[in-house]
Amino acid sequence: MKSLLIRNGRLIDPSQNLDKIGDLFISEGKIYGVEDAAPPPDLQVLDAEGLIVCPGFIDFHCHLRQPGDEAKETIATGTRAAARGGFTTVCCMPNTNPPLDNPQVIDYILREAAREAVVRVLPIGSISRGRQGKELTDMGKLAAAGAVAFSDDGTPVSSSPLMYQALDCSRTVGLPIIDHCEDITLSQGGQIHEGRVSLELGLQGIPSAAEENMVARNLALARQLPGSHLHIAHVSTEGSVELIRRAREKGVSVTAEVTPHHLTLTDEAARGYNTDAKVSPPLRTARDNQALIRGLREGVIDFIVTDHAPHAEADKRCAFNLAASGISNFETALGSLMGLVHAGQLTLNMLIARLTADPAKILRHEKLGTLQRGAPGDITIFDPAKEWPVDTGNFASKGKNTPLAGTVLKGKVMATIYGGKLVYQDGAIKLTAFQGNR
Ligand code: DOR
Repeated sequence: MKSLLIRNGRLIDPSQNLDKIGDLFISEGKIYGVEDAAPPPDLQVLDAEGLIVCPGFIDFHCHLRQPGDEAKETIATGTRAAARGGFTTVCCMPNTNPPLDNPQVIDYILREAAREAVVRVLPIGSISRGRQGKELTDMGKLAAAGAVAFSDDGTPVSSSPLMYQALDCSRTVGLPIIDHCEDITLSQGGQIHEGRVSLELGLQGIPSAAEENMVARNLALARQLPGSHLHIAHVSTEGSVELIRRAREKGVSVTAEVTPHHLTLTDEAARGYNTDAKVSPPLRTARDNQALIRGLREGVIDFIVTDHAPHAEADKRCAFNLAASGISNFETALGSLMGLVHAGQLTLNMLIARLTADPAKILRHEKLGTLQRGAPGDITIFDPAKEWPVDTGNFASKGKNTPLAGTVLKGKVMATIYGGKLVYQDGAIKLTAFQGNR
């Protein structure tokens, strides 16, 4: 394997409070450091002047659609899209067909990933058999096969006794239980956030309480079960942030995540009956955006996930109430999040922490989310100031479903390195052979 020298970049690694201009040397697929290493003859060089060089992004929540929905995405296309977005580790949700509810399917994902993926794929097993919400899966066996967490995402765990059992299990298995918090008795038939826009469009609304009811129930259950690990998926409302904040203050073991779209977009995006803005949970209000950003800044929300949810053209080009929910997110995540940095709402270092060191904590995996010596050579290089138009025709993802199509984002991934190998590079950045002394 060739060695790689990334030169003159701004190295930002929140795991070690590092922020300095320098070089990074990757050898044998691992981060080697820089200082006195003698350059081997096959050394290749990436010039990162003016660019940020940081640990590869980690996405704890995405949908790769394999097995069963390969028309929407595959492990091959999804991981290429992830690489274009700067993600070197992605955790895929189990709402596939069949669902990831037994060790054989987990094993299938890992084997398929070994053959087809260009970044690391870590599967999330389902909480209930067949995602039917009735009977627990054998979490011990799923964990032994390689599952890194459990979720029935796409749907909530509506049964309180089942959620109680799942959280109880997390105490022995030692992995998080992720709930898609939605009280379906309140959300059923709903299309977008319940508010002014839903009224004006005549679409049935989904009240914030549909999420908050379930967040509150889950926190109450987790409080009864010290040592369990509850993780709240895609938090979307101000009320949920407050519930999580208070529970944490009382010592409940809960972690939480937020998506780029819930941080930056509102229900206004659904105007014109734009099905690309239909997502579950729905886009809320500017006030919710602000509460989520504050929650992320203060660490009440632990990290950012994409919830990359690719759909086929036919799933979206239809009546609003028939359209599938979800946004194809890998390739626009950094650009839209950088909007928060440019607006002074998040610091660059904090954004990088919430995409690297913070999600790494929930994964019991060899050194991820860090540039420390010996860690896997997973690196993202991006230009914080480069403006680019979102053209879904250039997406590696099969899912072209994004409300950001045609907008201009400021902040672009220029290169992604996974295990020391360049898996994505923008045309503007060139690999050259090493010449002369460093
Ligand atoms: O909008 C969503 N799409 N939310 C989910 O929870 C599931 C996802 C999907 O699988 O399409």
